[in-house]
Amino acid sequence: MKVLVIGPGGREHAIVRSLLADPKVSEVHAAPGNAGISALVPTYAIDANDPDAVAALAVRLTVDLVVVGPEAPLAAGVSDAVRAAGIPVFGPDKAAAQLEASKAFAKEVMAEAGVPTAMARVAGTAEEAADALDTFGAPYVVKDDGLAAGKGVVVTNNRDEALAHAQSCFDAGGTVVIEEFLDGPEVSVFVLCDGSNTVALSPAQDFKRIFDNDEGPNTGGMGAYTPLEWAPEGLIQEVIDRVAQPTVNQMANRGTPFVGVLFVGLALTSRGTRVIEFNVRFGDPETQAVLARLKTPLGGLLMAAAKGDLDKVQPLRWSKDTAVAVVVAAENYPDTPRTGDRIRGLKKVDALDGVHVIHAGTKLDGEGKVVSAGGRVLAVVALGTDLVEARERAYDGVELVQLDGSQFRTDIGGKAARGQIRVTAPGTPAASKAKA
Ligand code: AMP
Ligand code: GLY
Repeated sequence: MKVLVIGPGGREHAIVRSLLADPKVSEVHAAPGNAGISALVPTYAIDANDPDAVAALAVRLTVDLVVVGPEAPLAAGVSDAVRAAGIPVFGPDKAAAQLEASKAFAKEVMAEAGVPTAMARVAGTAEEAADALDTFGAPYVVKDDGLAAGKGVVVTNNRDEALAHAQSCFDAGGTVVIEEFLDGPEVSVFVLCDGSNTVALSPAQDFKRIFDNDEGPNTGGMGAYTPLEWAPEGLIQEVIDRVAQPTVNQMANRGTPFVGVLFVGLALTSRGTRVIEFNVRFGDPETQAVLARLKTPLGGLLMAAAKGDLDKVQPLRWSKDTAVAVVVAAENYPDTPRTGDRIRGLKKVDALDGVHVIHAGTKLDGEGKVVSAGGRVLAVVALGTDLVEARERAYDGVELVQLDGSQFRTDIGGKAARGQIRVTAPGTPAASKAKA
């Protein structure tokens, strides 16, 4: 099987790495890729958001499958163009990608499908925003109703700040979704979908804020670990039964079947499990950790999803190890990051036991040296027999990365390793079991 992977980030590097480990995958190509990806497979400097360019490349390379990584090409219709060229594609069509591209659309589908989520209102003016904020009360949750790479959401106790964020979205010509605040730990669950069948991957936890203790602004994600030892026992079945399958059924009923990965962002609140958001692609950096544990060959799995064959897939096989991914970000991220700096020490990281580097915002400079080229520069991924060991290994690796001005969180998986995550959702078997 020949596969073309679309996208420039860490998620795509992790996907390429896993595809190369699948004995049925004979060739992997990537576009545009990054320095880590280009060290593994041929890369092509095309505009990944241009449907015709991607379809033409897929035809020229005579690939059997195209895997679209990020949300932007999906929202731009890259999958539609590749499908129209007769090539199976892992990733939803433009119409189905609206589940991520428009938060208002996602809320509409969730309501139709009976999926539990935060109460929400769409606002298009300052008056509507103020009214919605006062209806739900503090903490205030204001979301830009468009693609914002995880950075369009403001959660604050300050009403003026909430209003100002809404106003900046209106000024940019957009609308906002204002929601009730959801308490409790967050979980990311990736559900493979083939238009009618669903297969869930092992759940992960992401760290959205830039600083330790969940302080500072939201980012695309600063680290992740998996599996979640503290998660309620029936969580995955609940996600399939109450969220993923009803959503996939509803999308099929609407005539816009969902093929690809439905990323279910959950809050395990004191009132039960609620969907925070849908994304229509794998999470980054959760994928770096999740795929490090997946033993089932990835190429066959993604092809089954692309072809409507997920009902024929055997139960997934997972490593017993725990995986941790710690993101190393550039100075000034998530604002305009500093770029163009040499990155050193990566070979030493890869030489550590159970540790590997996944590139995100990296490129080769004129001399073929790896330099920073984005906000989230790379992730150090480690496997260990438990979370404590995996964390130790990941942070040993992070210490070896040399990048001027770089920053990382020191508490990825920390609370969980200390048994400090508590799930208080009613009726969950683990609510009583959860450690203090
Ligand atoms: P989103 O882009 O919708 O995933 O939001 C980004 C982050 O904002 C989430 O991962 C949460 O940490 C936070 N967030 C979003 N919606 C809510 C909510 N209703 N209540 C509490 N936190 C939220
Ligand atoms: N890590 C969260 C995301 O990919 O949106």
